[in-house]
Amino acid sequence: MANVFPSPHPLVAHKLTLLRSVNTEPKKFRELVREIAALMVYEATLDLTLQPRQIETPLAPLTGSECQDKVGLVPILRAGLGMVEGVWNLLPSAEVWHIGLYRDERTLKPVQYYNKLPIEPTVSVCLILDPMLATGGSAVATVDVLKRWGVRKIKFVGILGAPEGIALMEAHHPEVPIHLAAVDERLNERGYIVPGLGDAGDRQFGTG
Ligand code: PRP
Ligand code: URA
Repeated sequence: MANVFPSPHPLVAHKLTLLRSVNTEPKKFRELVREIAALMVYEATLDLTLQPRQIETPLAPLTGSECQDKVGLVPILRAGLGMVEGVWNLLPSAEVWHIGLYRDERTLKPVQYYNKLPIEPTVSVCLILDPMLATGGSAVATVDVLKRWGVRKIKFVGILGAPEGIALMEAHHPEVPIHLAAVDERLNERGYIVPGLGDAGDRQFGTG
């Protein structure tokens, strides 16, 4: 698991436990997704490049720093939507490019239904946002889309991953770092992560 980064942070572990609980209602679930997403992106952006920026403090001139990378947030609809707001608070000038994918319930293969990327890439770094990396089909398909778009630096930022999804990403896109709150045991026969948290889209949107 060379390119997988499970969060070492106690706040993430605490919030993840609340998120997993079957007793957590959609309002609280959305709040936790937002908060965990921000903590995960804090960890995932440790290597953003900086450039010097000249400013004046009230007392003296100073050469400070500003982020050089143009960041694109790429939530995978629907469940990734709930991660955007928390991350956007940290990266207010990030562009948000939505990718619509759902898993066919029978084949578990991703079906794309939305992609409005312009022809030329407008960002230098893309953070894919999706709480769940299950079979990995959706993540692999999204990285395929972003590579075709021309983005060279891509990271996956999620909440829970299964070994099967991590293995698929490593087989197709080994250079893409995967940041997760935790790696769970396995998938069940319906492709759900166990112990997991259930259906991340349904639990956020109250549609389960
Ligand atoms: C969920 C999840 C991922 C995908 C993960 O979305 O948000 O996008 O499944 O599964 P995979 O790794 O096996 O591809 P879902 O298809 O349920 O759509 P939704 O977000 O619209 O509910
Ligand atoms: N999608 C979800 O929302 N949950 C899972 O456990 C797997 C895929």
